[in-house]
Amino acid sequence: MVLHSKHLLGLDGIPQKDIITILDTAKSFREVLDRPIKRLPTLQGKTVVNLFYEPSTRTRISFELAEKRLSADIVSFSASNSSVKKGETLIDTVKNIEAMKIDMVVVRHSSPGVAHLLARVLTSHIINGGDGGHEHPTQALLDMFTIRQKLGNLQGKTIALVGDISHSRVAMSNIYGLKKVGARVLVCGPSTLIPREIEKLGIEVYYNIDEIIPQVDVLNILRLQLERQREALFPSLREYHNYFGITRERLEGATKPILIMHPGPMNRGIEISSDVADSDHSVILEQVTNGVAVRMAVLYLLAGGRSETH
Ligand code: CP
Repeated sequence: MVLHSKHLLGLDGIPQKDIITILDTAKSFREVLDRPIKRLPTLQGKTVVNLFYEPSTRTRISFELAEKRLSADIVSFSASNSSVKKGETLIDTVKNIEAMKIDMVVVRHSSPGVAHLLARVLTSHIINGGDGGHEHPTQALLDMFTIRQKLGNLQGKTIALVGDISHSRVAMSNIYGLKKVGARVLVCGPSTLIPREIEKLGIEVYYNIDEIIPQVDVLNILRLQLERQREALFPSLREYHNYFGITRERLEGATKPILIMHPGPMNRGIEISSDVADSDHSVILEQVTNGVAVRMAVLYLLAGGRSETH
């Protein structure tokens, strides 16, 4: 198994067969996670830096665990207790870290394009752990892995991304990835939270949640990204919940079982009700488990010296 890319910057720019390679490789690593001893020597001697300029629970811990499971040496950097506080620039920071002889960087940042910037100025492999509203490729890969695990395959399946599409890097990476593997992708939310002309990406746009529920195999419910919204884009959280919140009553319109997904963190009672989040159809915590396996696969394929171009 080889990848054609040196970095994982997004799912927009990578070939379909790299996506399939990552998902297939993650399947073996997922089995490792169920063993009593979960550690493999695969990345012994490799050093990975986790560079988090933005808060994270799942992505940061999942990458750290994936790196530990593969026996890599790891360093976790958090901007809030670093020399960034003394005014050091991003480029100076990463060049200084790379001077300590590292192999890979996982980066999360609030500015779109930061992972691409690091790929230009560093020689290490770069993995995008979420850059502003741009992309979050490992989240989309773990979402795709979970759908494949539960429904057998992705091709021909109808997957709806619901809610705040405009501010969601998870939505963008899911759209790019799912389209590449032949899924039917719908987006649904208030018109103020759906980018203009998004249908040009080959997806369908809906503004009425009750119209899509009878059609879908998967609802991937997105968090309202209130911290990225600079103006009021809907009248109130209560109204948002009434029109777009996924509730048990609303799911009564389904014609078949629907897989309930959410990338986290959830706003319970706003985009998703607790009875749906905790229902038998919810795979939200399985997404998190699968995330470790998917990140192990990405680290292994990139840093394991198996990239054809590196
Ligand atoms: N899904 C996700 O990216 O969660 P965190 O922000 O906690 O990493």
